[in-house]
Amino acid sequence: MRLTLKSNLLLGISCLLGYTGLAQDYEAQVEALMAKMTLEEKIGQTVMYSGEWDQTGPYVGTDNMKYIREGHMGAMLNAFTVEGTRDLQKAAVEESRLGIPLLFGYDVIHGHRTIFPINLGLAASWDLKLIEDTSRIAAEEASAEGIHWTFAPMVDISRDPRWGRISEGPGEDVFLGSEIGKAYVKGFQGDDLSKFNTILACAKHFVAYGAAQAGRDYHTTNMSEGELRNVYLPPFKATIDAGVETFMSAFNELNGVPTSGNKFTLRDILQDEWGYNGFVVSDYTSINEMIPHGYAADGKDAARIGMNAGVDMDMMGSVYRLYLKELIEEGKVDQAIVEDACRRILLAKFKLGLFEDPYRYIDQDREDTTKYKPEFLAKAREAAASSSVLLQNKNSALPLSKNAKSVAFIGPLVKDHYDIIGNWAAKGDRKGKAVSVFEGISEYLKADQILYAKGCEILKDDESGFEEAIEISKQADAIVLVMGEGHHMSGEAASRTNIRIPGIQPKLIKKIREANPDKNITLVLMNGRPLNLSNEVDLVDAILEIWFPGTMGGAGTADVLFGAYNPSGKLTVTFPRNVGQVPIYYNMKNTGRPIPETNPKEDYKSNYIDAPNSPLFVFGHGLSYTSFEYSDFKLSSDKLTFNEALKASVTITNTGDMDGYEIAQLYVHDVVGSVTRPVKELKGFEKVFLKKGESKTVSFTISAEDLKFYNSEMIYGVEPGTFEIAIEPSSDFKFTNSFELVND
Ligand code: BGC
Repeated sequence: MRLTLKSNLLLGISCLLGYTGLAQDYEAQVEALMAKMTLEEKIGQTVMYSGEWDQTGPYVGTDNMKYIREGHMGAMLNAFTVEGTRDLQKAAVEESRLGIPLLFGYDVIHGHRTIFPINLGLAASWDLKLIEDTSRIAAEEASAEGIHWTFAPMVDISRDPRWGRISEGPGEDVFLGSEIGKAYVKGFQGDDLSKFNTILACAKHFVAYGAAQAGRDYHTTNMSEGELRNVYLPPFKATIDAGVETFMSAFNELNGVPTSGNKFTLRDILQDEWGYNGFVVSDYTSINEMIPHGYAADGKDAARIGMNAGVDMDMMGSVYRLYLKELIEEGKVDQAIVEDACRRILLAKFKLGLFEDPYRYIDQDREDTTKYKPEFLAKAREAAASSSVLLQNKNSALPLSKNAKSVAFIGPLVKDHYDIIGNWAAKGDRKGKAVSVFEGISEYLKADQILYAKGCEILKDDESGFEEAIEISKQADAIVLVMGEGHHMSGEAASRTNIRIPGIQPKLIKKIREANPDKNITLVLMNGRPLNLSNEVDLVDAILEIWFPGTMGGAGTADVLFGAYNPSGKLTVTFPRNVGQVPIYYNMKNTGRPIPETNPKEDYKSNYIDAPNSPLFVFGHGLSYTSFEYSDFKLSSDKLTFNEALKASVTITNTGDMDGYEIAQLYVHDVVGSVTRPVKELKGFEKVFLKKGESKTVSFTISAEDLKFYNSEMIYGVEPGTFEIAIEPSSDFKFTNSFELVND
């Protein structure tokens, strides 16, 4: 550590100030420090500005150094690297009156340097350990570059593929989303925040941002309190159970009240009901945005509403810096509320150990030696392979043979290094480091076995490359198309009304099929949302969904294409047949007029006249190169009491020719409730490895606790009655077993 001298000096300063680094003393030390702070300095802790190393929202010019020296800024976003953060921290610690260290935050969403698949892709692995490992690595790399805090995980449930930010979340399911949220928090924060390689996590965007009307980003959200509590809140609560230290309020309004000024969600639920002790940061200028929302008259009014509602830190808005003092003097904001915000923020800094050594994350040696470690890259390769989902595999088009005379690789994303790491890719290298699909397959095929043509761009209309692409497709034994969206087509402010494969790519797929009626064609898809693949399912044999697979994406994809890794991912979000079915998700309600199984077209039923109700690919769907058989479903009893648990088990046999993972999913259906219940709900899952020919029994324990929901009085409880139950490979099944929940 090159800064040892300075650190020791500062350690001296810290000791003089009386900071012990002992966890049990933190609260007392916060109080002692606050006793020395002026009101302006306390307000200063609630202010965050950008260092502009990266831009993640509208440009806001600020006088950072001045505010830091004055003690009028508590945190910075988009400032990182040892060199970048050193001077800023030095100004805070050595030049401001009380030397309070800055907190540096950044969007480390699916990796920092080593980039893993986008979050929707990682979710498709259903592998909580893997997700925890990836966020641990992200924290290692980020903390080595001065970063103390990530704005992740995003745990917004979303059921709308038009919404670009569906790519950043866990998908559509509450149970899975909650488990995934916990795994991220554990990875980022580790088991001890005071270690130099752990960072604060941030559960965002609180709340219901994923339910934006018409899938348009930042749009209005309207929902019943029951829906909010049963679907959108649980993943946030789960992150608290996992110890998340910070929360971010959202951009959207919820039932008429912007979520960055929403007392009901921020104070009544988050603080009072859940007892949350961490701090809440606004989203980027989301406090100010209450003005155009029509909820605040001006900046001062917005500051009043935001602080009173429970947003402790103002990201980029300047309104806390400009108006809080005045608002306190006028009696419009209670000073105690601002002090509470300051206290929460300082406590986080103590927990990170910043008062013991403000430079502990600023270590040149660590920065130089931590990024892109071979074991990180190996994990990224594994993550890319296990996040990919084999949607379709007609004629066993996959895996490809290494002995093929030639394979044609066609499409704008075959040689791509840029889009492959996806949106919100932090400091991931979009040039040299990212392994393209072309480089990946070159590990399996010799140069003379590979034919390549780009064919077209993702979005441009130029068809001049079609001829070459068609020509090489005709020469090859097998054809692989690597197509999809550009990375900028999902993520923030990237909603789409058309969710087909963009541009003229679909036209090229059609032409290649016409030129090769009998050849196996595989479509490898890179994208950040469920796409409408209704035309493509009939044109190609295999479809491999690889999302934006990250730095080692090309290598992991090649492992799957050639069978070195047997695909095991399953969808955590429904793929509709067309955009008109949206929102569509597996656990909808039945309605009073469900479609009769025997006559799906019957009149006056809840159906469409121009498309089936069913999606193209269901939640939980994903194929393997081997096959699995489920048999011998057993329930330990057909009665469940409030005090005793029930065991459900099934035997899974690998009946195919390859070893592989299977993801078994436990679903229940509460048949009659005081409020209607979804047709099925995921309540458990297990990813199990089975050698070919091997059988294993997978069991789940169900207790009354697992069956609770919020009723119309917002009471969280469980109601006696019949529950259907099944353990299945996907959500596409009909229940045949049930149990009764009875009073003891
Ligand atoms: C996004 C957040 C992000 C923040 C800081 C906002 O625009 O909504 O998810 O953490 O910017 O970059």
